[in-house]
Amino acid sequence: MPVNPVPDDALLTARMDLERGCFRGAPARVILLSEMRGYFADQAACNEARARGDQAVYQVSWLEPGSGAGDLHYGLGRISPGRVGREYFMTKGHLHAWRPAAEVYIGLQGRGCLLLEDETTGQGRILPLDHGCMAYVPAGTAHRTMNTGEEPLLYLGVYPAAAGHDYGAIATRNFLHVVVERGGEPVMIERAAFLKGA
Ligand code: PA5
Ligand code: MN
Repeated sequence: MPVNPVPDDALLTARMDLERGCFRGAPARVILLSEMRGYFADQAACNEARARGDQAVYQVSWLEPGSGAGDLHYGLGRISPGRVGREYFMTKGHLHAWRPAAEVYIGLQGRGCLLLEDETTGQGRILPLDHGCMAYVPAGTAHRTMNTGEEPLLYLGVYPAAAGHDYGAIATRNFLHVVVERGGEPVMIERAAFLKGA
């Protein structure tokens, strides 16, 4: 059985900068509100928020210790607290390019949840991702993370090296569900119903 080459020590260990919400020395990308046009359901609220100035909605930094068949990659996400209308600040969301790839999410700080949507059936669900929560993203499932609290949400995602990120479907059709604040709690409702005023 071939064994993956052991990566450098530097890639076997990592330090998280919990203040800044990224791995020390790792690449990171910051996603601004201006890049999220079309992702939030309430266009008017999105335009109003944009008119008040641009800001970082979330950032992710990642580590890729190896690229063998059994290797794992991981990403540290940080979502700012905030809302656009009744929707929480959230990630764009994606499917894995290699659909059989699952992922484990671990909540490190703050309050949040994961919106999961089965690509085949369209069935949606929300899972808590508060500090201390773990959540499993099954194969073939679109996933988006949102900050439902008042402080930054930090979380770690661990996924197969072969997973890849496929943003195309979500950028085109978005999720079929939205997660909105109702009575101080996150609730999932169908996008079509939300857009009709539910
Ligand atoms: O790989 C993952 O699922 C995460 O690390 C995400 O990349 C992270 O939550 C940022 O979300 P997105 O990739 O949808 O912009
Ligand atoms: Mn993922």
